[in-house]
Amino acid sequence: MTMVTRRTFLKTGAAGLIGSAMLRPVATIASSREAPHGLRAEPGLKKFRDDQAQATRVMSYNQSIPGPVLRIPQGRESVIQFHNALDEPSSVHWHGIRIDNAMDGVPGLTQAAVLPGETFEYRFTPPDAGTYWYHSHKRSWAQLALGLAGVLIVAEDEPPLVDQDLVFAIDDWRLDEAMQMDTQSLGSLHDWSHAGRLGNVITVNGETEKRFGVASGERIRLRLVNIANARTMNLLFNEPEISVIAVDGQPVKPFKVDNGRIVLAPGQRMDLIIDMTSDPGHRSLIELVIGEYAYEIASFEFAATARRKQLPDSPIALSPNPINKTLLPDSFQHVPLLMEGGAMGGMRSATFEGREMDIRELVKNNKIWAINGIVGMPDKPLFSVKRGTAISLDVNNNNSWPHAMHIHGHHFIHDKSPGIWRDTTLFSRGEQGSMAFVADNPGKWLIHCHMVEHMAGGMVTWFEVT
Ligand code: C2O
Ligand code: CU
Repeated sequence: MTMVTRRTFLKTGAAGLIGSAMLRPVATIASSREAPHGLRAEPGLKKFRDDQAQATRVMSYNQSIPGPVLRIPQGRESVIQFHNALDEPSSVHWHGIRIDNAMDGVPGLTQAAVLPGETFEYRFTPPDAGTYWYHSHKRSWAQLALGLAGVLIVAEDEPPLVDQDLVFAIDDWRLDEAMQMDTQSLGSLHDWSHAGRLGNVITVNGETEKRFGVASGERIRLRLVNIANARTMNLLFNEPEISVIAVDGQPVKPFKVDNGRIVLAPGQRMDLIIDMTSDPGHRSLIELVIGEYAYEIASFEFAATARRKQLPDSPIALSPNPINKTLLPDSFQHVPLLMEGGAMGGMRSATFEGREMDIRELVKNNKIWAINGIVGMPDKPLFSVKRGTAISLDVNNNNSWPHAMHIHGHHFIHDKSPGIWRDTTLFSRGEQGSMAFVADNPGKWLIHCHMVEHMAGGMVTWFEVT
């Protein structure tokens, strides 16, 4: 493990940071309330710290940043009324749910955008239990940056026994000196062609330096969700007894986390079981590591008395979800997926809206990324297959940036981590690898980078299952 020095995020962070240390925040908008029957997207105001003179404008679901934690049962139908009280179109995507295509929330592909003043009823039966999230899929580079995201929990019938089941939704905001949302830089082609929109303030459940009350000897389930536009979170936990029990909602054979380090790309989730070993009264930090620095983003605050002397030893494995795991290598249909473009990428031309354009013309159109030589949504799907076909997307990430590739409506295996079913995975720069899955959910589905500025800049395509 490399040595890290602990500093407050805002004292020393990377680019364009605000000069003053951020202490305890106060939210005008409450953080993560539970289960409403509806979601209402609307303008809101938020304070990121209590001495902030003026709240800043955000977009919220139900006046909450992030949106309310929705808990719905596995295998039973849920109905969520979405009302758009913004002054621009929106939609809700239920990220990671192997959902009925008509409910996937992608304007222009699975539904019409929900216009200002309109209501759309989302009705679906989630087949899999686990930790998911929901977010706007319209102008997501702006609507996500302004706050339209929340956590969706599909509850198991028999969850492992824990003392607390905690949500940990981590976000990244770009604020100016007065803690106002930096809206000037929304849509910046510089961001789009580099790492995406990176912020300078990190929140957990909408709060900076969030404190979770725990006790020695407790067993916690922690649902980590990266809801940031573009920042891959390199996390450092200082509790030693951490096991991963699910990735992107899908149960895994529990494994221990090495050195407290967890990497979570935008869109990804992890369910952790943490046995609290620190002494009563201790505060155990959860940090974000950037280069050689670590910044406190949250902590476990230990009560003065222990809950129990010995750590629990009941089983922590989750029961399996009904996902089709039959992947026969010789029956794969191989589909190449060449990812090109971006700054320092050397892409000279690509096809946009049916026409070959050189890079200068693409840039004029705010397009900078291509999949298989095509920028943005093609008229024809990347592939169209019969239900049940095993697909191997053979990825060549031929550019200078990592990308968090996400497939809608399905879970897949990234060959670098066999046995783990994901819906979003990180390809490092230059990486060649594969995403394999059974295309068993009928409909039209997106494949895109979840660094949403990359998607907006062209790194998006779709496929069809008939
Ligand atoms: Cu969470 Cu198309 O995305
Ligand atoms: Cu990307």
